[in-house]
Amino acid sequence: MERLRNGCRFRLGPRETLASKGLPITVRRRLDPVIQLDQVTKVFTSSSHSGVKAVDEVSFTVGEAETLCIIGTSGSGKTTCMKMINRLLEPTLGDIQVGGESISSLDPIRLRRRIGYVIQKGGLLPHLTVAKNIGLLCKLEGWTSNRIQERVSQLLELVNMPAKDYAHRYPSELSGGQQQRVGVARALALDPNYILMDEPFGALDPITREGLHEEFLRLKQEVGKTIVMVTHDLQEAFKLGDRIALMDCGKLVQIGTESDFHQNPANQFVKNFVKNHESNDQAKVQRAVIPGACPDQDEPLQVDEPLAKAARVFLQQDVSEWPVVDEEGRRIGKVTKESVLRHLC
Ligand SMILES: Nc1ncnc2c1ncn2[C@@H]1O[C@H](COP(=O)(O)OP(=O)(O)O)[C@@H](O)[C@H]1O
Ligand SMILES: [Mg+2]
Repeated sequence: MERLRNGCRFRLGPRETLASKGLPITVRRRLDPVIQLDQVTKVFTSSSHSGVKAVDEVSFTVGEAETLCIIGTSGSGKTTCMKMINRLLEPTLGDIQVGGESISSLDPIRLRRRIGYVIQKGGLLPHLTVAKNIGLLCKLEGWTSNRIQERVSQLLELVNMPAKDYAHRYPSELSGGQQQRVGVARALALDPNYILMDEPFGALDPITREGLHEEFLRLKQEVGKTIVMVTHDLQEAFKLGDRIALMDCGKLVQIGTESDFHQNPANQFVKNFVKNHESNDQAKVQRAVIPGACPDQDEPLQVDEPLAKAARVFLQQDVSEWPVVDEEGRRIGKVTKESVLRHLC
């Protein structure tokens, strides 16, 4: 069982339950980081110009079974960051550890087989069938054809595409959403502990994307992998990520939970980024909360309710402020007519 508290992840470990003493108490411990970037810089140099600092002294950690979403404008260094984790690119400076080992000392091919990689449109090979695409790495690992077939069927089942209907098809015979699912199945083929996903849902229409988000959340529960996902969609990051890392011009500007981004934005850039990326119909009460003193009316608003509901409170009643509670019902502050209007306009 896992909980999110103040931007930190905890796992409620069964071994830590004091059940032996008859106490229904579980001690929370912080999850250990399994991916760690320490002061990582990447400069691309070429003969024509002096160099582009694509990633600039970036440090962050990702905990076991955590999903970290890296978000930022185009060219902010998201993909470069990600590609250094599986050594598709080498850092110019700094160190990256995966599973407690510095990856600079690991064989890149072996490393990549421990880390699933999903890219836009699945990155499938067009001349291979779905089954061959998914089983490719298993084949390279020397698995028998029976074992590969069994694994491919399992994986297709996992992504809701029965093998009998899809295994023999070619990528061009699949919809965008199906190609993406096959890309995910392929990334899971060797049962890696870690998965990197670069804008996996970026090329899909909103309805397909919504469906795949739900599937992603289900899979995440089922397979329990550590995931780093790049996206340029803040709502997607909030929905799928346990924490979000915001990059700008190669620098990490803020890392934290959705609530951190709303309640404690690191600077004006973060504030603007959040505001510009939230359309009004998606905005939550959280966005307009003034933390601190909490009025004592009944029926407080919850932080994750639509902000439009707060507007309705002020339309229906002659009040100027209204209490707000967090997800656990703790009174954390208020919204005012003014704060709601300001965040809706
Ligand atoms: N192979 C490369 N050679 C030179 N410059 C590159 C290369 N890859 C990326 N860049 C540059 O590095 C910066 C960050 O790129 P990237 O990590 O792809 O950004 P993002 O994924 O956030 O859009 C950009 O300015 C991009 O032009
Ligand atoms: Mg990119």
